[in-house]
Amino acid sequence: MTQRTPEEASAFETLSDRYDAWYDSPAGRVLFDCELAALRPLLDGTGQPRLEVGVGTGRFATALEIEVSVDVAFAPLAFARGRGVRVAQGTGEQLPFPDGTFDAVVLIATLCFVQRPEVVVSEARRVLRPGGRLIVAFVPRDSPWGLRYQAMGRDGNPFYRDAVFSTVDEITQLLERSGVTVVARRSTLFQPPSPEPYAEDARGGSSDDAGFVVLACVVSESTSV
Ligand SMILES: C[S@@+](CC[C@H](N)C(=O)[O-])C[C@H]1O[C@@H](n2cnc3c(N)ncnc32)[C@H](O)[C@@H]1O
Repeated sequence: MTQRTPEEASAFETLSDRYDAWYDSPAGRVLFDCELAALRPLLDGTGQPRLEVGVGTGRFATALEIEVSVDVAFAPLAFARGRGVRVAQGTGEQLPFPDGTFDAVVLIATLCFVQRPEVVVSEARRVLRPGGRLIVAFVPRDSPWGLRYQAMGRDGNPFYRDAVFSTVDEITQLLERSGVTVVARRSTLFQPPSPEPYAEDARGGSSDDAGFVVLACVVSESTSV
């Protein structure tokens, strides 16, 4: 696998136009709708403000009424700001917000790109209000979609070459070690990867067969924030 050096800008910085344009492709539109349908019910009932960490170009933030966002890369934040999302450049490892600020903190396809996922989850927990929800969405490592993205990374895809994918169990254990407990799960993309994906309903539960899994978490009772 080709790794970039720490000094090299990530593809999210240098290719933000290409990343954002994918959402307007025929496949991008279908996959985005499938993923939104998995995410939405787990955010229902959470209030404002909401924070997305690793917001990218803000497509999900806009659709899910997430008003505040952070990303380590500058370039995608310009797109997110243009979509009406408040943006801050920063890292999930050191969020620029006081304790207990948000009703929901959302991480979509971001944990696999961060250097220190446990620190990012601990920071997300810190900025949650009592009773708030952490929503974590990811592509399971051994799902057909995860295997496909890993193969693309090995072939030099500039986005996926830096990703470190995990299984559902690994993410669940990471969350528990970081002081949050999973309370609800939804999954979608049981269809195999193809250039022409089709609309698919999300299902309750989580599975390594699914290409997109969403976990909703609350702060663990034994943890003091
Ligand atoms: C695959 S994109 C996901 C963007 C958006 N959530 C979406 O689903 O379209 C991952 C994003 O995480 C950001 N990122 C990577 N490491 C980060 C970190 N340590 N802190 C904050 N953002 C980070 C990248 O710059 C990128 O915009």
